[in-house]
Amino acid sequence: MNFKKVILISLMALPFSCSNDCLIDKVSHDAEDQVSHLLKEIKEVKEDDKNLLLVSPRTLDYDGNLELVASRDWTSGFFPGILWFLYENTGKAEWLNSAKEFTLNIEPEKLNTTTHDVGFKIYCSFGNGFRLTNDKHYREVIIETAHSLSKRFNPATGCILSWDHSRDKYAHPVIIDNMMNLELLFAASRLTGDPSFYEIAVSHANATMKNHFRPDFGTYHVVDYDSITGQVLKKKTHQGYSDESTWSRGEAWALYGYTFCYRETKDTNYLKQAENIASFILNHPRLPKDLIPYWDFDAPEIPNEPRDVSAAAIISSALYELSTYSENKDRYIESANIIVEKLTQDYRAKKGDARGFLLLHSTGSKPSNKEVDVPLIYADYYYLEALLRAEKLHEGKPVVFAKL
Ligand code: GLY
Repeated sequence: MNFKKVILISLMALPFSCSNDCLIDKVSHDAEDQVSHLLKEIKEVKEDDKNLLLVSPRTLDYDGNLELVASRDWTSGFFPGILWFLYENTGKAEWLNSAKEFTLNIEPEKLNTTTHDVGFKIYCSFGNGFRLTNDKHYREVIIETAHSLSKRFNPATGCILSWDHSRDKYAHPVIIDNMMNLELLFAASRLTGDPSFYEIAVSHANATMKNHFRPDFGTYHVVDYDSITGQVLKKKTHQGYSDESTWSRGEAWALYGYTFCYRETKDTNYLKQAENIASFILNHPRLPKDLIPYWDFDAPEIPNEPRDVSAAAIISSALYELSTYSENKDRYIESANIIVEKLTQDYRAKKGDARGFLLLHSTGSKPSNKEVDVPLIYADYYYLEALLRAEKLHEGKPVVFAKL
């Protein structure tokens, strides 16, 4: 299987403005070449910097320099995940070896109890690694991480505490992004037979469903709880335009999160939630025609606001999975196909550019003018995941591969 074939599939399913050949030409600047380029860039930065803690690429700064991060950064697991996807797609030993090397760099995070982000870090790296190799060590790392993450669960709030920072502002902050960490807990429960991980995940998903959504299914970014009584104290934003606006990537995390919560539990409340979130996104009057959202659905200068390609990539991957559970299958597949096509056609770096990142035009945090209109490694991760999911869908295979 290859990514080029996946684009052909989406071409067959959609009315396109561009001829097949023109899109396929663009796709032929393929992910393998770009990621090989990124590997060389990483090596050069590491040689220059001599900082052994820097392990994974995250973005480019505003001068175009490659920024590497330590394993403790929330984005550290995405690059190993990309390497696993390339191995999955090609079966090549070179990708397997790189994936193993970059995955092991993230291992210290299994003991990190100071952040909720261990789910992102370990599931994208070790989770994909275990799925593709069955390596027992990877399994142990996933389980150990679940124990670390569970230490952040507070029975009074019913939630996993997101941040240790910002304690001047928040008592028990929970961010919508935290939904993404639950996938690791579901996996750990299956691997061990220990129901406590599953129970924590369900409790967190239920509390988030109750407190993070507005009646139109737009999301609050941060909900602050009283850590003793569990009462909601306030609802705020951190990376969105305003407390009452809907930050696009937050909405994307919510869609992805409730989709896998349905996969894992078969609780139809989660399916309905995911469908309602999908409706919010796809019917939104300020969603551009190409379905690549602005960084916030309520950003004041739309249409003169930066897009967030990372949100689009996450949404497309989630919609492919959701299509397999929902009666709205056709709409979800069609929308995901449009996103993947547009990302490929209009938002991709030219071969050899962007130091090897695949996609341009993501927005990390507009309010702090950080990572605005740049490549972000998690955009590339979910783009490749979406392509693989489209391929599976076409082949009639489960979109989410063998369960861990
Ligand atoms: N979890 C951080 C972000 O989505 O920016």
